[in-house]
Amino acid sequence: MKKIELNNPLITHKLTILRDEKTQTKEFREIIGEIASILCYEAMSDEPLKTKEIKTPIKKMNAQKLNTDNYVFVPILRAGLGMAEGIIKIMPTAKFGHIGMYRDEETFIPVNYFYKMPPSVEDKTVFLIDPMLATGGSAIDAISSLKEKGIKKIKFLCIIAAPDGIKALEEKHPDVDLYCAKIDDKLNENKYIVPGLGDAGDRIFGTN
Ligand code: PRP
Ligand code: URA
Repeated sequence: MKKIELNNPLITHKLTILRDEKTQTKEFREIIGEIASILCYEAMSDEPLKTKEIKTPIKKMNAQKLNTDNYVFVPILRAGLGMAEGIIKIMPTAKFGHIGMYRDEETFIPVNYFYKMPPSVEDKTVFLIDPMLATGGSAIDAISSLKEKGIKKIKFLCIIAAPDGIKALEEKHPDVDLYCAKIDDKLNENKYIVPGLGDAGDRIFGTN
């Protein structure tokens, strides 16, 4: 499993705003979207390019393009939707699937309630998106359901990852690469990431 952590002062600065409990919904959403865009750039870094002849105002050249039809983005509902906006900004033709999952508040076990993918998804690279990788249960189950449907190439993009979640993900799905903005310290007794940013879904959608 490849593990990429964005390491950049501007990202650290933006994470500080996300972490601050005083930050309100509008700014929280905007920054989740911005970081999702940057994670998407990073996760594209080893994707193949095709050569295509174009003419610049100066001369003809063999230029390179991605096959953008090759990618499907899959937010884990709800909080993953907060990252989807940032992806749409930089890849406006992107196709999306959705996986609905929530963590039972007592057992912390993920409960699956929705699954819908675009056609021919099994031939494409899937970018699974969710701001938080805590115990890893939600990401692991979401990836298992993608694999059960025949999807082979999966990358997981999150804002904050906990060491326990990374370890669990690596054990269960070593073929899935992880892209995150920050690896935090640990989980608390309620399986929240420490220091983290609280409940990502609640902060994105203004619920409690
Ligand atoms: C959060 C988060 C992840 C999950 C991470 O979602 O967005 O999906 O918890 O925890 P885990 O790694 O321990 O599984 P939540 O279940 O709170 O649902 P929500 O997106 O509807 O808020
Ligand atoms: N889900 C969240 O939204 N935040 C955490 O810290 C852990 C799980």
